[in-house]
Amino acid sequence: MAGKLMHAVQYDSYGGGAAGLKHVEVPVPSANKDEVLLKVEATSVNPVDWTMQKGVMRPILPRRFPWIPCTDVAGEVVAVGPGVENFKTGDKAVAVLSQFSGGGLAEFVVAEKSSSVARPPEVSAAEGAGLPIAGLTALKALTESAGVKLDGSGVGHYAVQLAKLGNTHVTATCGARNIEFVKNLGADEVLDYKTPEGAALKSPSGKKYDAVIHCASGIPWSTFEPNLSENGKVVDITPGPSAMMTFAVKKLTFSKKQLVPLLLIPNGENLNYLVNLVKERKLKTVIDSKHPLSKAEDAWAKSIDGHATGKIIVEP
Ligand SMILES: NC(=O)c1ccc[n+]([C@@H]2O[C@H](COP(=O)([O-])OP(=O)(O)OC[C@H]3O[C@@H](n4cnc5c(N)ncnc54)[C@H](OP(=O)(O)O)[C@@H]3O)[C@@H](O)[C@H]2O)c1
Repeated sequence: MAGKLMHAVQYDSYGGGAAGLKHVEVPVPSANKDEVLLKVEATSVNPVDWTMQKGVMRPILPRRFPWIPCTDVAGEVVAVGPGVENFKTGDKAVAVLSQFSGGGLAEFVVAEKSSSVARPPEVSAAEGAGLPIAGLTALKALTESAGVKLDGSGVGHYAVQLAKLGNTHVTATCGARNIEFVKNLGADEVLDYKTPEGAALKSPSGKKYDAVIHCASGIPWSTFEPNLSENGKVVDITPGPSAMMTFAVKKLTFSKKQLVPLLLIPNGENLNYLVNLVKERKLKTVIDSKHPLSKAEDAWAKSIDGHATGKIIVEP
């Protein structure tokens, strides 16, 4: 592959949204020690990808310009670096790339062997590529932050299914158009977030929640508080300054009701667990839309728009 060029999509400054993405030809990267080179079959776009472009995490991320974004990929191994024993050329894999390296919106990408897992034939490339950030966030929110024991929006649609695999009673909120869809994922009760009851997060059966996985943004603690059980927790996956303040106050006052901010540090073991759940048909990746790499800006705009149902996939 040395010297070969590939099609990639990158941005070279903060801001610009979908119009800031540029189609370029760049050298195919090489797999170094403990890395595999993947021919990308599918990449999913997550809100963090365009949040980085906005400059919200400057100056830490992105690490440099120009920047090829996206971290969630499925692909075929076309080369392995020294020290890689778990993959060989021709294997199919799902990988989560570091936010410090990115690179998913391209024809080829290198991935760490420790963050790459085998993709069995029962799991399509798009189903696999949907899993890393959204699936791992839902899994961590439920198991580590909320303490649900499992024997199963992007994040929200995985969270509902995983929560049902943990034999919990699930009340979910979503837009009116998705009520049947979310019921079909297994939710016991579904609220339209634009109705007064939905905005108040009130369970139709009067239940108090032991855990709320907060996948939206901007809902104040005062809305959650009356709906929580005595030891109820809100796991906030997009904690802003006011959530961090609530987190500190609840901790310092030994409140039984807690807010738990979540920051995902992806790991290959959990990704493998999710891939296997999809293989066993216990978990599904719902695809909102598929876009060719040549139209990656459409996928980007769709994610920024905030009205996807499931995962937005880009395919070379
Ligand atoms: N901490 C982490 O590591 C981490 C990881 C992943 C994601 N996140 C964050 O989590 C958030 C969600 O990510 P995502 O990938 O799930 O986004 P997404 O797929 O783009 O979410 C879109 C969906 O959310 C629904 N929605 C919007 N507001 C809602 C509300 N108040 N109540 C219920 N549903 C609502 C929309 O429904 P309508 O179309 O009907 O409006 C749409 O179906 C983002 O802010 C993201 O940055 C954090």
